[in-house]
Amino acid sequence: MIRDADIVYTLPANPVNGDAIRGAKTLRFIATMGTGYDNIDVAAARERGIPVTYAPGILDETTADGVFALLLATARRLGEAERYLRAGKYRGWTPFLFTGRDVHHATLGIVGMGRIGRAVARRARGFSMRILYNDARRNDDAERELDATFVTFDELLAGSDVVSLHVPLLPETRHLIDARALRKMKRTAILINSSRGPVVDEHALAEALRDGVIAGAGLDVFEREPDVDPLLLERENAVLLPHIASASEETRTRMALRAAENVLAFLDGRPLLDPVP
Ligand code: 8YV
Repeated sequence: MIRDADIVYTLPANPVNGDAIRGAKTLRFIATMGTGYDNIDVAAARERGIPVTYAPGILDETTADGVFALLLATARRLGEAERYLRAGKYRGWTPFLFTGRDVHHATLGIVGMGRIGRAVARRARGFSMRILYNDARRNDDAERELDATFVTFDELLAGSDVVSLHVPLLPETRHLIDARALRKMKRTAILINSSRGPVVDEHALAEALRDGVIAGAGLDVFEREPDVDPLLLERENAVLLPHIASASEETRTRMALRAAENVLAFLDGRPLLDPVP
């Protein structure tokens, strides 16, 4: 599709790999409508002097709202309960019908205290949650603002009731959550992933949910989107969403326009607004 293109305007769902970039002889510029740009072989573009822009910062608050909705839905088993009601199974109130786990005053472990992780932590403060975090480096501002405690990755896994992932997909974050990491988590804990699917070993997670290694998972992203591991689809204790954490009309529209503004800046020879770092 991009072989004869001068400019590519793309989305996180479309892989723009090295072969495609090298095969596109007239290509001069790539813009993605996404905060994540792991779908683009930036090194291959750079080799050919092709600038790449992304659309960071716009979706942080909307994504944090989506993450919190997913967190609450998972902890309080909303998907499962709604399926039950719609299936006509609700025959009357009982004291322990769909009892879940408390979110308020629970400990939240944020993996990746960037813009989105921090916006999620801010919401968690409103729920009186205790905040632990791990990142490649300490974030003093976030610690001051959120009373967040920096811990090692393993301490975070062992000490959190909710683990929420906010790291980019990099070689060192691929399968960050694998069978070993899941075993380090509390049996009562839930995992929330709104970052990139391959950060979690999806099949290992499905097995952990089946075997009671952890209590639940809320996932907005998957290893091979749009496919989902069949074992995971069977798990009632997983809330599964089609990559919609940032899906408000306002935010998606602003992201689309921002990517277009980058294209216009390139065409006009002005400085690019959001070159990838
Ligand atoms: C959306 C995302 O899929 O921005 C990203 O990196 O993963 C999501 O928010 C995207 O913004 C839609 O273009």
